[in-house]
Amino acid sequence: MSKITIAIDGFSSTGKSTIAKQLAKHLGYIYVDTGAMYRAVTLYAMQNTFVSPDAFYKEALISSLNDIKITFQFNEQLGFAEVFLNGKNVEKAIRTLEVSSYVSKVAAVTEVRQKLVEQQQEMGKNKGVVMDGRDIGTVVFPNAELKLFMTASAEKRAERRFKELSDKGDAVTYEAVLKNVEERDYLDTTRKDSPLVKAIDAIEIDNSHFSLEEQFDKVLKLSEDKIKEV
Ligand code: DC
Repeated sequence: MSKITIAIDGFSSTGKSTIAKQLAKHLGYIYVDTGAMYRAVTLYAMQNTFVSPDAFYKEALISSLNDIKITFQFNEQLGFAEVFLNGKNVEKAIRTLEVSSYVSKVAAVTEVRQKLVEQQQEMGKNKGVVMDGRDIGTVVFPNAELKLFMTASAEKRAERRFKELSDKGDAVTYEAVLKNVEERDYLDTTRKDSPLVKAIDAIEIDNSHFSLEEQFDKVLKLSEDKIKEV
């Protein structure tokens, strides 16, 4: 059976990665979380004090890009690939609110995007991939056979993210999470390079009022129909 490329883009905390992981597992495809790659570069920038609450040393980050190696390693127990920064597992460290508060700045840097997009295109070159992010259907794989664009209200997304972070034991407030979601929406949609936009041929899925099961069924049906068609 032919393999296809599935691009899942959309706003933060719309449940893209949950759906993408499940879908990849079901289809036997590779799953690539491109947000994790931008987060890993952000963590590197934080560790090297290139980014702080009052400064962003963009040129220093650009000069260090060759020293940043991002890889994925499949974790059998978890059922998905975890992200590594220069050989160290950073899957947990990249999911904090602090990383989230800087990541849009880092993701707006053209040189960072060029490096990561190239790696993403390499990872998906043989198809059979579900990739989630912001620019997958528009920039990384503009010829993807199936493009989905996930949305939900900022409040709904902040609620989910707040629950996720507090379940992990992070001392965050709902208000801080909502503020971060809204700020990232603004920065991700207004940046000059590869802003978050819905590709014209993407199917929009507003999941504010759908359960995960309902969303998964819908997305699986779309994928299977497309696979039969190609
Ligand atoms: O999907 P996420 O929330 O983990 O992504 C973190 C940030 O990375 C997001 O605010 C924007 C950026 N990003 C991007 O610019 N392009 C991508 N393909 C994926 C993520």
